[in-house]
Amino acid sequence: MSVLLAEIDKNRLPKHIAIIMDGNGRWAKSQGMPRVFGHKTGVTSVREITEAAAQLGVEFLTLYAFSTENWNRPPAEVTALMTLLVETIKREINTLNSNNIRLKTIGDLSQLPERSRKALEDGIEKTKNNSRMTLVLALNYSSRWEIVRASRLIAKKVEAGELKADQIDEDVFKAHLATYDIPDPELLIRTSGELRISNYLLWQIAYAELYFTDVFWPDFRADHLYKAILDYQNRERRFGKISEQLVNP
Ligand code: FPP
Repeated sequence: MSVLLAEIDKNRLPKHIAIIMDGNGRWAKSQGMPRVFGHKTGVTSVREITEAAAQLGVEFLTLYAFSTENWNRPPAEVTALMTLLVETIKREINTLNSNNIRLKTIGDLSQLPERSRKALEDGIEKTKNNSRMTLVLALNYSSRWEIVRASRLIAKKVEAGELKADQIDEDVFKAHLATYDIPDPELLIRTSGELRISNYLLWQIAYAELYFTDVFWPDFRADHLYKAILDYQNRERRFGKISEQLVNP
């Protein structure tokens, strides 16, 4: 067993880990290969990290697979990412089922190519009764899109007389986000050395611990995940209180 894995306190795991998988392109370049090779290799990391998180007992894993801004990439790369997504989902459905993992998405799927959307809907349907861990793919997702959408949904309810403006509070707002049925992540990991949030889960990470690593996503392995979790477990989460107010477990 991994030395790092043995050090993790299983009673203090983050329930929800969110990851910004970054650095596929730079990793490929460092190998003298085209960018798409980086994305393909990144799928190996997706598999390994999903399995490692589920085995540990993490309940939700959210991966930033395609942002609303990613449409601005060269068309060939966008097509390759969509194809990779369809192929991966189709190939992995059985593995998700045998590992009791439920697939879910957040983001505007209506803008995805028909084939990608169908594959995702099929994967979501076929895994909907699994209960060990939920793998959430953020696809055509951005926080600003999500927050604007929630505001519009709430405004429509106010317009229709179903809700009063004074009733809008944090709970009402959360109920209209794409993550309405998912707890907020306690740990956010970004690979590749970039120190940005890039329009990802802005509402949900209000109290998350942020973990940045220089490792490119295609090189990110289970031990890197364990290291991030150990770092998280060594931090003191105060939620606005002072140290002395915290009850030690
Ligand atoms: C960021 O690297 C990565 C992405 C935009 C896409 C991530 C997609 C995958 C790992 C493959 C498909 C995923 C699933 C869930 C099946 P980058 O291209 O921005 O790298 P760079 O910053 O080095 O250019």
